[in-house]
Amino acid sequence: MNVGIVGIGRYVPENVVTNQDLEKRMDTSDEWIRTRTGIRERRIAGDDINTSHMAYFAAQKAIEDAGIHPEDIDLILTATVTPDQPFPTVSCMIQEQIGAKKAAAMDISAACSGLMYGMVTAKQFIETGVYKYVLVIGAEKLSKITDWEDRSTAVLFGDGAGAVVMGPVTDGRGILSFELGADGSGGKFLYQEKYICMNGREVFKFAVRQMGESALNVIEKAGLSKEDVDFLIPHQANIRIMEAARQRLDLPVEKMSNTVGKYGNTSAASIPISLVEDLEAGRIKDDDIILMVGFGGGLTWGAILMKWGK
Ligand code: ACO
Repeated sequence: MNVGIVGIGRYVPENVVTNQDLEKRMDTSDEWIRTRTGIRERRIAGDDINTSHMAYFAAQKAIEDAGIHPEDIDLILTATVTPDQPFPTVSCMIQEQIGAKKAAAMDISAACSGLMYGMVTAKQFIETGVYKYVLVIGAEKLSKITDWEDRSTAVLFGDGAGAVVMGPVTDGRGILSFELGADGSGGKFLYQEKYICMNGREVFKFAVRQMGESALNVIEKAGLSKEDVDFLIPHQANIRIMEAARQRLDLPVEKMSNTVGKYGNTSAASIPISLVEDLEAGRIKDDDIILMVGFGGGLTWGAILMKWGK
C-alpha cells in the first residue's frame, strides 16, 4: 500500500515581531540577524494561545482539506517539545476538541525532527493495514521556553503549527523512502533547562553535514538521483544551513522552500507550515518528487522523499 499526505493545514499567530522590534529589546541588529540567519520576522503567540490551540487550528484545516470526518481518524501524533503540560498530551486534547472519538493519541518528542518521526510512524500503521488515517501535527510555542535576555537564541525562534493527514494514496505516489536517526552524544549542544540552551556553532556544523547526507541517502534508497528531485523542504532553522543542503543537491534557488524569513525557526512546525505555503503558491504540483529533511535537538534527524499527490 502506498502511504502519503491526503490533507494539510497550518496556523501561525497574528502577532508579528520584527527584527527591529527585537533591536529595541536587546543588543542586536536587523543586519546581524538577517545575514546570520535569514530571519526578518517571526510570529509570537499571546498568553491566551498555547501549543494545543495552534495545533487545533492546523488540524481542523488538514481534516477539512482531506475531506474526511474526525471520526475517520485512527491515530493522532503531535510532534512538540512545548506541550501545554506533560500530560494530558496535546494529542489527547486535540482528540477531544475535534471529536476524533475512535483515535488513539500520543505526543512525539524529537524536537525539530518531530514531524519526520511522526510521518514515518504513521506510515508503518497505515502500510500494515492496522490504521487508515493518521493525523500528524507539528506544533510549538517556543516563545515560552525562550530566554528573552539571551540574544544568541531569542532572535531565532517563532511559534506556529502545521498538520498533515496521512492515508492511502494511488500507486506510485506517497512516501518513496525515509531515514530517521539520532546521536545522543550531541544532546549537550541543544537542550532545555528552563530555557533553550544551544551551542550554535556545533549545531550548525552538525546540521550542514546531516541534512546533506540524509537527503542523498533517501534519494539513493528510492533508486533515484538528485536530478529527479523537484522540490526541497528543509527544516527552516537558518538560511545558511538550508542553502548548504540545496547546494549539495544542485537545486536552483526557486526549488527550495524558504519561509524562515517570515516565521523564524518553528521547530516541528516548520516543515508542514512551509509545505502548505508552497502548495498554495503553486510551487508543488501532483507527481513532483519532494524531499523533506529536518534536524534538531537530541540530536535527531529525519528525511522523507515522496511523490506528491493523493
Ligand atoms: N545579535 C548580535 N550579535 C550576536 C547575536 C545577536 N542576536 N547573537 C550572537 N551575537 C554575537 C556573538 O556574541 C558573537 O560575538 P563575539 O564574536 O564578540 O563573541 C558573534 O555574534 C558571533 O557569534 P557566533 O555564535 O559565532 O555566530 P554564528 O555565525 O555562529 O551564528 C547562529 C550564530 C546564527 C546561532 C548559528 O550558529 C546557527 O544558526 N547555528 C544553528 C542554530 C540552529 O539551527 N539551531 C536549531 C535549533 S533546532 C531545535 O531543535 C530547537
